[in-house]
Amino acid sequence: MMGWRGAMLDISRHFFDAAFIKKTLSALAIFDYNTLHLHLSDDQGWRLESKVHPLLHELGAHRRQSQINHGLLRPRFDGIEHSGHLTHEDVHEIIAHAKTLGMQVVPEINIPGHTGALLAAYPQYGINQKHVEVSGQWGISDHLLRPFPEVFEFLQTTFEEVASLFPSEYIHVGGDESLIENWLLDPQVLDFMIQKDLSSTKDVFIFFMREIEKIISNLGKKMITWDDAFAFDPNRATRAIVMSWRGDAIAQIALDHGREVIQGPVFPTYFDYSYEVSPSEPLAIGGAITLGDILSFSPLPGVMGVQFQLWSEYIQSPLHAEYMMWPRAAALAYRCWGGEVGFDAYFAARLPLLHKLGITIRDEDPLQRLNIAHLGIGEFHEGFPISLMTEVLEKSAITGEVARDF
Ligand code: ACM
Repeated sequence: MMGWRGAMLDISRHFFDAAFIKKTLSALAIFDYNTLHLHLSDDQGWRLESKVHPLLHELGAHRRQSQINHGLLRPRFDGIEHSGHLTHEDVHEIIAHAKTLGMQVVPEINIPGHTGALLAAYPQYGINQKHVEVSGQWGISDHLLRPFPEVFEFLQTTFEEVASLFPSEYIHVGGDESLIENWLLDPQVLDFMIQKDLSSTKDVFIFFMREIEKIISNLGKKMITWDDAFAFDPNRATRAIVMSWRGDAIAQIALDHGREVIQGPVFPTYFDYSYEVSPSEPLAIGGAITLGDILSFSPLPGVMGVQFQLWSEYIQSPLHAEYMMWPRAAALAYRCWGGEVGFDAYFAARLPLLHKLGITIRDEDPLQRLNIAHLGIGEFHEGFPISLMTEVLEKSAITGEVARDF
């Protein structure tokens, strides 16, 4: 079996509590998953108690409202506060439960972009030290940490706390979709670039991630980043494990550069895409990713593992999250490490265990499906077709750009 058999749960965009996380761990274990990656921070929420920097959860875990329509549309909001974070006690419980299942839980704190919730709490660490609100809107934001010593000191103590809570040997530091040209908007960053002889924003990015790499390795942990942090400049990037989400080509380049690679390509491992492009499905970012797509996925030879992603902009409730995960999570497991019996037999053999946990599975019965679908938020929108999305992302990975129009 491959070493990293992963599932990523985004609890930043919508918060999912410890009870749901433990239930999900139990369900994943039935299919021999061994890793749960928790996306704990983003522009829309900071979801981990911090005793060293308490404003992170006191301010960063609350937003005033949430967008209820598709991110490609002019936003409409629900006007309802959305809050939640895991306490240290929650984390201990989650880790203890994962341990009984032989699973690890890997934390992700996303930097230097996707930092709106952090900066809502501590604006002094962001470009131009602007006032920031925890965002209720989906999409890529302009927020960026400054590359300054006081920021690294803050991150040092933050990662120390994270490392002490999560025993896994890995820490994920994000590194995706950072609009690095925004550093040029901050005169103090410009001064810093001159002083440090950093001639481009790519140089600043490399400098930033290398500082983070020192912090993570001094904590005795292995660093993981999204492929963006590698693709910006493969020859100067850190030695971090590359989690590739923008297709096979960038994953292969990372392998060729001697990096360890975890594959989680949008197609077909982003389970926030709908099962079919149809108004009878809940609002989703795009589609479709079918069971058949997953059952014909082939991981590249030599990768460390594979992981599915459940981003939660459009997923508000545990029921909806389970609907998006099952049976697709089973199909990915079957395809990548499951065996030879045929998917139907493999799934049928394990289905009673999912039922015992009370897991919601997308049913083939159209009436039931419709009922479940209506628990999704907002209105149906077809989003970007998956083939177009895949093409644009693959190109952006090769050129080391951020695909910002989605
Ligand atoms: C990602 O989807 N930005 C990793």
